[in-house]
Amino acid sequence: MSLPVRVRLTLWYGSLLEAMLVGLGAFLIVRLRADLVAAIDRSLDTRAAQIALDYTGDGEEEFRGVSESSLVAVPRGETADQVLSPSGTVLQSAGDEAVSQEPMIGAADLARARRDGAGLRLTAALGADREPFRILAVRLPDRPDVLVVSESLEDVDRSVHRLLGLMLLAGPAALAAAGGGGWWIAGEALRPVRRMTEEAAAIGPGRLHERVGVPRTRDEIERLGMTLNAMLARLERSVDEQRRFVADAAHELRTPLAIMRSEIDVSLASDRLPPAARAVLRSAADEVGRMSGIVENLLTLARMDEEGGLEILRAPVDLADVAGDVARRFQAAAGSKGIVLGVSAEHVVVLGDRERLLQAVANLVDNAVKYTQPGGHVEVSVRAAPGRGRVVVADDGPGIPPELLPRIFDRFVRADAVRSRGTGGAGLGLAICRGIVEAHGGRIRAESEPGEGSRFVLELPVVEDAGPVDPAGPTGTMRVR
Ligand SMILES: Nc1ncnc2c1ncn2[C@@H]1O[C@H](COP(=O)(O)OP(=O)(O)O)[C@@H](O)[C@H]1O
Ligand SMILES: [Mg+2]
Repeated sequence: MSLPVRVRLTLWYGSLLEAMLVGLGAFLIVRLRADLVAAIDRSLDTRAAQIALDYTGDGEEEFRGVSESSLVAVPRGETADQVLSPSGTVLQSAGDEAVSQEPMIGAADLARARRDGAGLRLTAALGADREPFRILAVRLPDRPDVLVVSESLEDVDRSVHRLLGLMLLAGPAALAAAGGGGWWIAGEALRPVRRMTEEAAAIGPGRLHERVGVPRTRDEIERLGMTLNAMLARLERSVDEQRRFVADAAHELRTPLAIMRSEIDVSLASDRLPPAARAVLRSAADEVGRMSGIVENLLTLARMDEEGGLEILRAPVDLADVAGDVARRFQAAAGSKGIVLGVSAEHVVVLGDRERLLQAVANLVDNAVKYTQPGGHVEVSVRAAPGRGRVVVADDGPGIPPELLPRIFDRFVRADAVRSRGTGGAGLGLAICRGIVEAHGGRIRAESEPGEGSRFVLELPVVEDAGPVDPAGPTGTMRVR
């Protein structure tokens, strides 16, 4: 059973209290009844002794008068007295007539009372309406007869019932009050835990520098909070180290890749290259290009996570130029896969970082070429929309599963592994696209019909007064997380 701690605590508390109340109540009732019966027993003793004394002194005729005077002396409860012969015949009787006319004890009890000098005590239901009576039977001194005195237990039962009623009324009320108090105390005690849980849940990968608020209570809860914060600090440190390592590694890989690239280009420029060697070098150039792309992505990702976020240059960039560049870069890869890669672009100038925009569009085209089956089509288009420039990369490939579409720009999100097996990638390309586009103040979205293809739409705010495009002259930088 997985109830919240607060409910469990309250239930525990309530059940314990209930058990205690029931136990206490039962004890009180048993005690009260025993005490009341003992009081009746004492009064029966007194009356029996007095009657026996008077009986011996004044003879049988006095019995009724004597027992009636005793009755007056003991105003509480109904009483009945009788003298029984050894054979069980009622010789004389007094008090409650409905009870005293018939023998109040059976033959066996009568025999025992005659034998036992100390007298016999018992409780029995007497009369036509079976009323409970406490009975004392003693043998009269120097005679074979037995004196039986009795008193109704009705008052005792009434007192016990009244107490029971009071407890049945007060018990649940006490239980409800204590349960409510317990519920409130448990809630108060758990409130800091709830708050820390919420705070800790809100600390995502990008907010590892944050800490949960620790209450200064010098108890387990304060320790829990401090432990949580210490863990966050360790996590932050190790994530930072990893990020720095990735950034350093990617940075280190850039230069050798650039050198390889230019060496291959120089070799390819030679006329005396045998055709087979030329083909090998072309393929090597493609692979080096892909590797550069991956390294760029890694570096961008590390920068996006850094303190200041991704640094974006702000210079006028012609999106048609970017689209053309990317298409050129992927023409060979598309061609060798039998995919038609087309471009149709209007000149739209936005303020931004040309290299980053190239990277974003390249990631989209890379996906389109990578995931579209041979014979498919990929189209890159650039259009001006009111206030914004729009780059669309569309394909007629397999499309994106609808359940993945809302998360497709999240890190490490990929469609089923089988389809993407061998196509590499870690599911970071689209996350980087979004990072770059949002750093530019733009928006990116994906539309897809499974089996029909995918469309990635990238929108960037345009420069209001577009001057001449000067890619060399950054007009400033901005940092966006
Ligand atoms: N044009 C596309 N057609 C079909 N699926 C795509 C397309 N672009 C992206 N996807 C799906 O989105 C996932 C995430 O893409 P991305 O972030 O670039 O990661 P990667 O390419 O490394 O797998 C891909 O694994 C793929 O399943
Ligand atoms: Mg990709």
